[in-house]
Amino acid sequence: MAKAIGSLAIAVVTLLVGLCLVDGHGTGGETRCAPVPSMTAEQACNAVCGTAHMLKLCLRTLLPLARGAGGTGGEHRRREAVTHYVGVAARGALDAYAATAAAKREMQYSGALPSDERTAHERCMAGYDLAVRFMGRVADDLASCDCETAVARLKDDYDGSLAGMDACRRKLFGYPASPLYDRNLADRNMTMLVGLLSNLVPTPSPSPSPEI
Ligand SMILES: *[C@@H]1O[C@H](CO)[C@@H](O)[C@H](O)[C@H]1NC(C)=O
Repeated sequence: MAKAIGSLAIAVVTLLVGLCLVDGHGTGGETRCAPVPSMTAEQACNAVCGTAHMLKLCLRTLLPLARGAGGTGGEHRRREAVTHYVGVAARGALDAYAATAAAKREMQYSGALPSDERTAHERCMAGYDLAVRFMGRVADDLASCDCETAVARLKDDYDGSLAGMDACRRKLFGYPASPLYDRNLADRNMTMLVGLLSNLVPTPSPSPSPEI
């Protein structure tokens, strides 16, 4: 897990640096987007996933139609910009957060449930509210070529999403039997998948020095 968190930190930095080339010299701070590579979903997942579990989660997220009657199989061969995959994973994370929030709303609380556990659930969901807010901006930020704004916000967006998942987890530590506990671990993995895929967004080469 520590290794995974480490690579997420690298992923975030890579994404922030790689998103756009910022030309701070000569042209009055104009920005332009760095070229982004394209690949198939399988190539993307194989490149960033270090565990069989993550690989499966990644393929399931990026190729939802590949399995079963709905899929033609053609999506296996389609090449997309890596930022597209980050966006798809971000929306997958949002769906996962929403499903957990719905499960929480539908939980039937009997009088037998201690009130402190009920409070822990409420505080966990406050973390989800936070994560939804930040993750919701990720796809928008990726599409933006207003690099200074996007770069400044993306770091906050990732920090916020993960912090929201971890805030929930801390509240649930004492209640591992809670159905929310496992859901949160799975949702946290989805969040980390977004970070891993963002590793594929290239780091920029240094901007050429302007002629003086
Ligand atoms: C989260 O990912 C880790 C590492 O890939 C895996 O071992 C773990 O089982 C996953 N947890 C859930 C709840 O999916």
